[in-house]
Amino acid sequence: MAKAKSYFFCQECGYQSSSWLGKCPECGKWNTFVEEVVQAPTVAARSVQATKVTMPASQPKLIKDVKYDEAVRIPTQCNEFDRVLGGGIVPGSLVLIGGEPGIGKSTLLLQTALSVPDKKILYVSGEESEQQIKMRADRVEQSQSTQCFVVSETTTQRIFDHIDTVQPDLLILDSIQTVNSELVDSPAGSVSQIRECTTELQQYAKRTGVPVLIVGHITKDGTLAGPKVMEHIVDVVLQFEGDRNYGYRMLRALKNRFGSTAEIGIFEMQGSGLREVANPSEFLLSQHDEELSGAAIAATLEGARPMFIEVQSLVSSAVYGTPQRNANGFDMRRLSMLLAVLEKRCGFKLGAKDVFLNITGGMRVSDPAIDLAVVCAVLSSNVDIPICPRVCFAAEMGLSGEVRPVARVEQRIAEADRLGFEKILISKYNARSIDKKRYNIDIVEVGVIEEAFRKLFA
Ligand code: TYD
Ligand code: MG
Repeated sequence: MAKAKSYFFCQECGYQSSSWLGKCPECGKWNTFVEEVVQAPTVAARSVQATKVTMPASQPKLIKDVKYDEAVRIPTQCNEFDRVLGGGIVPGSLVLIGGEPGIGKSTLLLQTALSVPDKKILYVSGEESEQQIKMRADRVEQSQSTQCFVVSETTTQRIFDHIDTVQPDLLILDSIQTVNSELVDSPAGSVSQIRECTTELQQYAKRTGVPVLIVGHITKDGTLAGPKVMEHIVDVVLQFEGDRNYGYRMLRALKNRFGSTAEIGIFEMQGSGLREVANPSEFLLSQHDEELSGAAIAATLEGARPMFIEVQSLVSSAVYGTPQRNANGFDMRRLSMLLAVLEKRCGFKLGAKDVFLNITGGMRVSDPAIDLAVVCAVLSSNVDIPICPRVCFAAEMGLSGEVRPVARVEQRIAEADRLGFEKILISKYNARSIDKKRYNIDIVEVGVIEEAFRKLFA
């Protein structure tokens, strides 16, 4: 064995130092350094590891002679998952799926393991026993006719032994924080362990062409636990997120070497596992027959996907000296800015009012095209006049009260038309390029916010 050396690692970003530091020079976090004993793996230890998998010797080739086939991607049978991956799992790729505890990472991967046809799959869990995995498999009620092997294991060396016997076409590991390598002498979940285990899996994936799906936990502040280095090693980083009080889950690509990061997948967590949601607007628009004041529908784009989201607002006279502002699913500072624009440019006296804002469905929206819907919802609640539920909005607000154009407006209009909306309010600067005759929907152009107000409530 090589001689053991100890280093200090920042548990946030993986920065390595030979002495303890109070503040990480890399990420600036305080008190994140932990001592870890690193045993440099000897050549012998590595080669024992390496013989476990057959390694064809590499040969330099001319780039024009390198062949690849789009069709070799492994489809997962789950359209939403495939969409986020860019059309299926690429052979030899390392895919990391991060998310908060209980969001459904294990469920998603087990369902994937059970649904991929004609492939031998090895599902390795360091968190659950085989019986627990079976219980979950029974719960998700997927046909279990595929060749899915499960094993509960926590050391990479033994995992490679199992790989040797099973020879899988797809490896799933739940989770990277629970496995450890014997080559590194620090506890599972520490920076050096995560780095070593990920590297071993990467070498395995690249040499054999077997894709590996890895679950990774995320920390309280929403970043992937463990070092950033892991994100650099893997090919695809997916984030599984959603509000736990709602059943809806979103799968986003934060990094994808083989596809777009604009795509998102939407699922609903049900009693019997995750269900794909093909039409997200179905749950984002709250169902009510009456016309209610303070509600407006925004035609947003989440990545490349149009999503219609209901914005609800309540404006009431402030009881306390300092009026309250509260937003769920929308940036508070942006709300304050929009309210200031309404106050200053349009003369709506909101300074003495409490303003509450809620995005239905537990969504977090960052598309600026939601601005006009937010402003109109606030105005509707302020004057207590409902907006017709068959009207939607897609525009950004400027600081002078001007209604600004947004990206890909035609896609939003086409989707609004398809969903049966009667009217869409957009910026007049967006309207020039649009062929209105192509749509049945009434396209209303507005230049400044007062104009939108007049057209809605006049
Ligand atoms: P899980 O996949 O264990 O989450 P993670 O691996 O991300 O920690 O999912 C756990 C939650 O999902 C749990 O709170 C129960 C719920 N769930 C369902 O609602 N229906 C189901 O069929 C399953 C399997 C889980
Ligand atoms: Mg889990």
